[in-house]
Amino acid sequence: MQSPQSTESNLSPLVPAYASILELAPYQTGKPVEELTREYGVSDVVKLASNENPIGCSPNVTLAITEQLGQLARYPDGNGYYLKQALADFNDVNVDQITLGNGSDDLLDILARSFVGASDAIVYSQYAFVVYSMLAKMQGAMDVEVPAQRFAHDLKAMSQAVQDNPNTKIVFISNPNNPTGTLLSHKDLHAFVASVPSSVLVVLDEAYIEYSPESNNRVLIDEFDNVVIVRTFSKAYGLAGLRVGYALSSVAVAELLNRIRQPFNVSRIGLAAAAAALSDQDFIERTRLMNDEQMRWMEKQLDALGLGFIKSHANFIMVEIKVEMEDITAASIHEALLEQGVILRPLAAYGLPNWLRITVGLAEDNLRLIDTLRSILTED
Ligand SMILES: Cc1ncc(COP(=O)(O)O)c(C=O)c1O
Repeated sequence: MQSPQSTESNLSPLVPAYASILELAPYQTGKPVEELTREYGVSDVVKLASNENPIGCSPNVTLAITEQLGQLARYPDGNGYYLKQALADFNDVNVDQITLGNGSDDLLDILARSFVGASDAIVYSQYAFVVYSMLAKMQGAMDVEVPAQRFAHDLKAMSQAVQDNPNTKIVFISNPNNPTGTLLSHKDLHAFVASVPSSVLVVLDEAYIEYSPESNNRVLIDEFDNVVIVRTFSKAYGLAGLRVGYALSSVAVAELLNRIRQPFNVSRIGLAAAAAALSDQDFIERTRLMNDEQMRWMEKQLDALGLGFIKSHANFIMVEIKVEMEDITAASIHEALLEQGVILRPLAAYGLPNWLRITVGLAEDNLRLIDTLRSILTED
């Protein structure tokens, strides 16, 4: 590894702990609606960029939040007793196997800080959630990106990468994966976990699990102490603005993670809202049904426009802009859509410059996207 001093920095004389931090590009979030309105002067914006739930969240959440409003001067319960109890029942685990996070990003960060040092390696797949490589750089560790196979994680090659890099501390696997939407089978994941040393932590990031319940690999933590499952309330539960996530693991791992996390990393409102959201599984079912229906509709429309896409198991779909017209690129389409008030996610930062990611929205929002896209593609 390079020493911090060896990299040119305009921060001088302030030097970050690891030279690799200078290579970090800040995480690009989906453009907020307010920003588009401000910058482009468009109103009536449709945001299909951050895999949020377009129906919102369970009505139970509003009530739970209201109940907390008189208590805002008080710190939250640092142990998240009620939420953990509810999560333990829901996932059939013990309370001491749970770690709460300020969104699942917080848990990914806590995992890296707990287990990965500068002489270690993090293994992940090409086209996997971009935060994994950022965490490796943040820790000054080696990031081992394993080439994907037809956009999906190549678990055999990832197992080989762990073998080739005995300093591997964490393997991050996103299932279903963002941004490709690809899904790994339980059988393949089980074989993968069995193939790596028990000293390597396998982190299964199930941020989109509610859209593909069959991809729930919760059982792996009964069999393997080195498996951690990370989940979030930001996607199907519709609480992205509140920041709540959780990790399920062995007691030993949870005990470590709970030492590292900030004592009050989930707010009072976040704790109450997440417990209320979890109690309304009918809402999750409605969310899944709407997503399935709209996903099928979206696939048909993309086919009709002659655009290629990757079959997705989550609430977004990756579409290829390979239009045989001069000057039409994913970047130009993204920009033209922004000008007309539609926000998608460009994927150049993932090494996918010809692709855009569409979050499946409400029927009317999806229709607006497809109509706008059609008019851009057929413009003279
Ligand atoms: C695969 C994956 N993991 C984790 C996250 C982080 O979500 P949050 O921090 O909102 O829980 C995201 C968000 O886009 C994601 O796509």
